[in-house]
Parts: sequence; structure tokens; C-alpha cells
Amino acid sequence: MSSPLLRVESLCKDFGGLEAVKDVSFEVCEGQIKALIGPNGAGKTTIFNLLTGVLAADAGSAVFEDHQLLDMRSHEIAALGVGRTFQTSLLFDQMTVLENVMVGHHLHGRANMITAALRIFGASAEERQYRKVAMEALERASLGDLAGRSAAALPIGQRRLVEVARALAAEPDLLLMDEPAAGLNMRETERMGEIIQEIRDSGVTVLLVEHDMSLVMHVAEEILVLDRGRRLAEGTPREVRSDERVLAAYLGEVAD
Ligand SMILES: Nc1ncnc2c1ncn2[C@@H]1O[C@H](COP(=O)(O)OP(=O)(O)OP(=O)(O)O)[C@@H](O)[C@H]1O
Ligand SMILES: [Mg+2]
Repeated sequence: MSSPLLRVESLCKDFGGLEAVKDVSFEVCEGQIKALIGPNGAGKTTIFNLLTGVLAADAGSAVFEDHQLLDMRSHEIAALGVGRTFQTSLLFDQMTVLENVMVGHHLHGRANMITAALRIFGASAEERQYRKVAMEALERASLGDLAGRSAAALPIGQRRLVEVARALAAEPDLLLMDEPAAGLNMRETERMGEIIQEIRDSGVTVLLVEHDMSLVMHVAEEILVLDRGRRLAEGTPREVRSDERVLAAYLGEVAD
């Protein structure tokens, strides 16, 4: 396996006494699909928010290439090549599929999504280039045919893919995906798995948060398991699947 592209050490985040992320360390190697799993409230989305400058960490380190992400702002992190998709759908319903993806090319963090949306209509000199990058990203998510459709008309399965295309349009080296298969049926989930593998094959490293275990076990090379903010286990799908601490954490969730 190649060298780490992202190295997270002793990451901590507390929300008024709730230890949402407690002393979490892990690495993501270049070219890898790594999964981050755990029961509801384990701290997965919080980790993505810390890595993308949406939230400030209380302690720890997150080095991407040679850059300390925890010292940087969202737009700087995006410009560096760290992209993300969101757990809840964030499409602009008034815009077409293509325009939504063009926003990704301008996107400098979630805070500026509206500004980015407005900007794409003004930048005529660069617009053709934006369209080209966005079209390529749509093709990678097998959505080329839908470019001119209104985003409002799309079913959830296609909305999820548009979000993936939008993240790809920012041309990331590392893509953080937060539950890309949420709300998808089995067929759509399988297709999402293929697309995640194609993204990796195109040279993008993937850190995947996902509750669909068949998807995780199928695409991830390595899995980190969190429970209540803490690192519970880490290993290959086979190792994690048979780890008693992991089974207990998930059984606890079912029992709750
Ligand atoms: N901004 C916030 N303010 C206060 N508490 C928060 C905030 N964000 C998350 N939390 C809490 O931190 C804990 C971890 O939440 P997080 O969203 O990271 O979990 P998760 O692993 O992504 O869960 P899920 O699988 O349900 O998406 C939860 O107890 C949650 O309620
Ligand atoms: Mg979450």
C-alpha cells in the first residue's frame, strides 16, 4: 500500500460536554477506498466537518499531503483537493442538473455554496470551461443524459448521483462521502458502489461513511469503526465483520 494521503492524529471535538470525537487517529492511503462506520451518533459526520473546516477541532492534527487541515478554512481545504458530499441533499431545485454540478467547480466550502451558485451565471469568459468540467463529472456519475433537467424533478437516486458529480467537478484528490447510498434502493446502491470504485480507479482516494453494510463490505479495502466518538476497531472487511466489539456496538444499537 502506498503512503498516507491523510493522517489524522488524536482528533477531539466536544459539544458542551458530549465527547462527539475523542482521540481518534487513522490514516487514508493514496488510491484507497477506506470506510468510516459506526452506529448513529458515533461521530462520523463530525469528523468530516472537522476535516473540511466546517467545525473547529478542540485538539489533534489532520495532515493532508503537507498541509495541516485543522488550521485552514473550508475554501482553502477545497482548493487543496479535499472534496465532500453531504448526508442530506443540498441541490438547488431552481437550477438544472448541469448548473448544480457547475456550482461544484466554484464551490469553496458549504458556507459559500450560494455565492458559488450566483457566480456561475456571471462568469461568461470561464463558463465554457466550467461546463466542460461539469459535463465530464456528470458522465462519470452516468448522468450525462440528464444535464438539462430541472434538479427539482429528480428522484432521490439521481439526486445522490448529482451530488457525487458536483463533488467530482471540484476535481478532488480526496473525496469524503457521507452516506451516498442513503435512501437508495438495492439496485441504485449497487450502482453507487460501482461509481465509487470507478472514482477510485480514476485516481481519487475515497473516505466513505455509509450505513449500508453490503456496500461498505463490497467496496472498502479498510474499515475504521467508531462508537460514541471513539475508535473501536480497524481492519479489512473480513476482520471487522468478525470483531466481537463491533458486533456488540451494532447489537447495542438495535437493542436501543
Ligand atoms: N453541531 C453540533 N452541536 C451539538 N452536538 C452535535 C453537533 N453535531 C453533532 N452533534 C452530536 O455529536 C454526536 C455525533 O454526531 P455525528 O453527526 O457526527 O454522528 P454520525 O456518526 O454522523 O451519526 P449518523 O450515522 O446518525 O449520521 C451526536 O451525539 C450528535 O448529536
Ligand atoms: Mg452522520
